[in-house]
Amino acid sequence: MRRKLIAGNWKMNGSLAANEALLAEIQSQLGEASACDVAVCVPAPYLAQCQAALAGGVVALGAQDVSEHEAGAFTGEVSAAMLGDFACTHVILGHSERRSFHGESNALVARKTLRAIDSGLTPLVCVGETLAEREAGQTAQVVGQQLAAVLEVIDAADVADIVVAYEPVWAIGTGKTATPEMAQEVHALLRDALVQKNAEAGAGVRILYGGSMKPDNAAQLLAMPDIDGGLIGGAALKAVDFMAIIKAAS
Ligand code: PGA
Repeated sequence: MRRKLIAGNWKMNGSLAANEALLAEIQSQLGEASACDVAVCVPAPYLAQCQAALAGGVVALGAQDVSEHEAGAFTGEVSAAMLGDFACTHVILGHSERRSFHGESNALVARKTLRAIDSGLTPLVCVGETLAEREAGQTAQVVGQQLAAVLEVIDAADVADIVVAYEPVWAIGTGKTATPEMAQEVHALLRDALVQKNAEAGAGVRILYGGSMKPDNAAQLLAMPDIDGGLIGGAALKAVDFMAIIKAAS
C-alpha cells in the first residue's frame, strides 16, 4: 500500500511571524506520529527558520525549486546542496507557475529532477494541462510528454525516488477542482507510464493531486485508487484547512 503524502506548497507567501504560528499549530495538532506523510515546501529564505521549527517532528521540509546546476555563477539560483544544508528532503519541480512564468521546459524540469535525485532530494514532479489543452482533448498527450521527458533521463531504478503531482492548471488557485473521476483517469495514465519504466517501483510511486484541494473535497479525491496524496496551495496556509486535509488522508 502506498502511504499517502500531503505536501503544502506555500508559494510566495509567509513571514517569520506567520510561519512560526502556522507550523506551531500544525505540529501541536499532529503530535508525534502521523498516519500519512506530511511536508511543507517553503520559500527559500525561510528554510532555516522552518528547519529549526520542524526539528525532531514528523513534518518534512521541502523547497519549491532547485537549480539544475551544481554550483557557480548562477545569480539568484539555489543549489540542491544548499537545500540539503537545511535538512530539506523534498523539492517541487516543474510547477505550472514555473513553467508558465519562468519558461521552464520539459527538458529543464527533467534535468532538475536528475539533479534532485543525485543529491538525495525527493522531487515532486508536477505535470498538468491548461484549460485550452483539456478542451482540445490534449490532456493525455500533454501530461504524457511532461512525464516522459523526466522518465527518459532517469535510471529505471530511480523511479522509486520520485513523487509525481498531477495539477491541472485550470484548477490551481481557482477553486475549480477536477472531479475525482477526472483526476483518477489522468493518474491512471501517469501510473501506466511509471510502470512501463519500472514495474515494481512504478506501482509504488506516489501520485499526488493538486489544484484547489480543500477540506470539503479532499476525502473524495483521496479515495481514488491512484490518488496518493495532495499538493496543497491555498489550503496549506491555514492550519485548520491543512489539518483537515491531513485527516482526510489518514
Ligand atoms: P491550490 O494550489 O491548492 O491553491 O490550487 C496548488 C498548487 O499550485 O500546488
